[in-house]
Amino acid sequence: MGHKEEILDVLRKNPEAYISGEELAETLGLSRTMIWKYVESLRQDGFVVESVTNRGYRLVSAPDLLLQDDVKKDLNTDFIGRQIYYFDEIDSTNRKARELAPDCADGTLIIAERQSEGRGRMGKEWYSPQGGIWLSLILKPDISPEHIYRLTLVAGVAVVETLADMGIAAQIKWPNDVLINEKKVCGILTEVDAEMDAVNFVIVGIGINANIELDMLPPLFGFNSTSLKSEAGSDINRVELVQRLLERFEQDYGTFISGDFPSILKRWREYSATLNRQVRIVTRFKTIEGEAVGIDHDGALVVEMDDGTLEREITGTCVHL
Ligand code: BTN
Repeated sequence: MGHKEEILDVLRKNPEAYISGEELAETLGLSRTMIWKYVESLRQDGFVVESVTNRGYRLVSAPDLLLQDDVKKDLNTDFIGRQIYYFDEIDSTNRKARELAPDCADGTLIIAERQSEGRGRMGKEWYSPQGGIWLSLILKPDISPEHIYRLTLVAGVAVVETLADMGIAAQIKWPNDVLINEKKVCGILTEVDAEMDAVNFVIVGIGINANIELDMLPPLFGFNSTSLKSEAGSDINRVELVQRLLERFEQDYGTFISGDFPSILKRWREYSATLNRQVRIVTRFKTIEGEAVGIDHDGALVVEMDDGTLEREITGTCVHL
């Protein structure tokens, strides 16, 4: 913890009380001028710190930020999110994760308040204003490259279960869009760096429209999208959501790594908004329409065509008809 975080920590632990500059200086072994400078810097970060002559400082309110110390505090995981890189603004957390991955520990988290070039699936842009949750996890699983698609389903299941823990009912549109009332609230972009027979690392990028006003989204993007704020009618605690998501993800990822993918698939089916629906699947090579009748052991969607034949698609864009 740096001095600034230490001061914040003391102020946070005493929400009702005024702490004098002298007391802070003594506790932290700093001069009173230094304390004043750090308090000024906290104010610039958006913290409202009241100061009253002869009484001291008091924390009135904290900004809604995903600062790494806040995320780490009360985080109950073994390796997911133990190392965090936080950015106020970045081009894309997935791109940064890819750059850092070779020298990073398994489970490292990259998180940003805003992305200027957020990336979506199929080369699309992902609009990422302040208030959302834009994060990427660097994973180094000892699995065969052909099983990466399974991992994307693990992430979708973890998001739905995290929202359920917070009292929000969500569903998954194949492969891993998370929907609330049929509207997209979260997208997942999984990228892999692999050899023929070994995975070097996987980046799981998760974007959640959390505290976002729908009219902040560009019209085309906003169409069919929603946000947690708009569904719940008020801001949600983003730090808590990230913490619960990392914990859920670690559990579900552990289940997957231990070889129990069937249990993940079973839950994916339960949460699915796609199964038993008429769908249009657009892949790089073709577009098909039919009824989504199942998901197989690789995470591929099984579509029954009008003539009764079955098609299997491992990746693509799905439209519910
Ligand atoms: C989709 O198209 O549904 C996937 C969207 C994934 C967005 C997230 S936000 C964090 C991470 N960084 C990116 O650039 N993209 C992913």
